[in-house]
Amino acid sequence: MSDGRIVILTGAGLSAESGLGTFRDKDGLWTKYDLGEVATPEGFAADPAKVHGFYNARRRNAREAAPNPAHEALARLVNARPQMVTLITQNVDDLLERAGARGVIHMHGELMRAKCAACGANWEQREDMTPGDPCGSCGAPAIRPDIVWFGEYPYHMEAIWDLLRAADLFVAIGTSGQVYPAAAFVQDAARAGADTLELNLEDTEVSHDFAQTRRGAASQLVPAWVAEILGE
Ligand code: APR
Repeated sequence: MSDGRIVILTGAGLSAESGLGTFRDKDGLWTKYDLGEVATPEGFAADPAKVHGFYNARRRNAREAAPNPAHEALARLVNARPQMVTLITQNVDDLLERAGARGVIHMHGELMRAKCAACGANWEQREDMTPGDPCGSCGAPAIRPDIVWFGEYPYHMEAIWDLLRAADLFVAIGTSGQVYPAAAFVQDAARAGADTLELNLEDTEVSHDFAQTRRGAASQLVPAWVAEILGE
């Protein structure tokens, strides 16, 4: 198994030990904010300043955070086996990239990118965004965070489904399995014959779908698992 095609899905639990909040744990983001107001197209249309304020704060936190040993181990793995290992993340921070990982698939978008709500162009932007900032392509005052909101279609889904169909091993790290389509990836992979492994602090909504689960903090479990895979 350790030399097969490995598809890894990460969630907020991967970045929790870097100080970035999760969504549904105690004190998670969705216990403090109404996701309908800050993570939907309707919320953005109703109050773009509030939505930009929410993401500007998360972008600042992400800039100030540092990768933890789990990010570093995953970067080592994907760079050691670039043809055999794919990192898919639901996270919008850039900690995997800052740990050195290349080719990360951000299915829910990226905090450090902006998008034009008028023409769809997107570009890197690490600083605060303000409602009405002009689009670099069409000039419309329609800047928004390049984040996939609830009710919008995740990015790269065709490529992801192809990867799941070809996987020998699917691993989910630090995700609660409450948001689809990512929560069903384990079933898609298992149906295609892949082995499945869940690394998480606790049981999740989809733990029963995994052939194997390991319980603990990502900063402990992930480096140990990567060392196993790399035969160290
Ligand atoms: N190590 C491992 N797992 C952890 C750690 C840790 N240190 N801390 C928390 N976890 C686990 C929790 O047990 C939980 O299963 O991380 C998971 C976090 O779950 P959520 O907060 O629901 O985050 P996630 O699964 O990434 O949410 C999916 O929902 O709101 C949307 O778009 C948002 O991408 C997000 C999606």
